[in-house]
Amino acid sequence: MAQSKIALVTGGSRGLGKDMAISLAKKKLDVVLTYNTNKTEADNVVSEIKGLGQKASAYQLDVMETSSYDSFIELLTSTLKSNFNTDKIDFLINNAGFIHYANYIEADEQQFNDMMQVHFKGPFFLTKKVLNILNDHGGIINISSGLTRFTTPGFAIYGAMKGAMEILTKYQAKELGERRIRVNIVAPGAIETDILEGIVRDNVKMNQYLASQTALGRVGLPDDIGGVVAFLCTDDAKWINAQRIEISGGSNL
Ligand SMILES: NC(=O)c1ccc[n+]([C@@H]2O[C@H](COP(=O)([O-])OP(=O)(O)OC[C@H]3O[C@@H](n4cnc5c(N)ncnc54)[C@H](OP(=O)(O)O)[C@@H]3O)[C@@H](O)[C@H]2O)c1
Repeated sequence: MAQSKIALVTGGSRGLGKDMAISLAKKKLDVVLTYNTNKTEADNVVSEIKGLGQKASAYQLDVMETSSYDSFIELLTSTLKSNFNTDKIDFLINNAGFIHYANYIEADEQQFNDMMQVHFKGPFFLTKKVLNILNDHGGIINISSGLTRFTTPGFAIYGAMKGAMEILTKYQAKELGERRIRVNIVAPGAIETDILEGIVRDNVKMNQYLASQTALGRVGLPDDIGGVVAFLCTDDAKWINAQRIEISGGSNL
């Protein structure tokens, strides 16, 4: 039987990353996912993927700890060999993250540093390391946000870091093209997950307001996103490169 392609999803234990991991398995990819603190949730995602007939493993990784990347890659490579019969992966999805909510005027240096590390510096350097174990003809998918196209008070630092990732995506696509690695960035609108204490999902007023600003009349759900990311990891998407793909149901038009 042909070897399945393997995708690495950071922050695959919950929310969008979990749905990406499961959607990838439904498209017959094997999945390696990372979590930061929620091992139990990550293990549950692994079980669900195995139930779909694909291989899966979960590893702890704090994306903010760049000094841990070498040992993470070492552990990943050795378990790829023992569990997946290869030492390479095909796709990287830089998804992990959280949000500090602060207006520009109020934002402090700690918030800035946290957002930079998790949303820009982390993916910047993690991707460089992963490139050593990424097959040519593979792909990278970065995760941005609708908040780079329109502004909402409270998301100045977050939006700026996601904007930086959008620029980096184009440079990565340009430079990695010679290895036939495609690099795209997906920009979800507001989605019902745990992020920011579940504000989109649990704050009824916020949910209704965001829905009213969306052409399709509701906020997003994780499964609005995962399938698109999984599609980008298939041959059907082989000519999609260097694109920002917004998935927001048409918000803030
Ligand atoms: N939800 C939205 O409305 C929305 C919209 C646009 C973009 N996004 C982006 O989509 C991505 C996922 O967001 P989400 O809504 O799915 O969030 P979520 O439900 O809160 O899940 C966050 C995931 O990231 C992991 N994580 C958090 N901090 C980490 C760190 N320092 N190192 C490694 N992993 C870490 C978490 O691991 P643990 O489970 O171990 O904590 C979890 O798996 C983020 O990049 C976010 O900015 C979200």
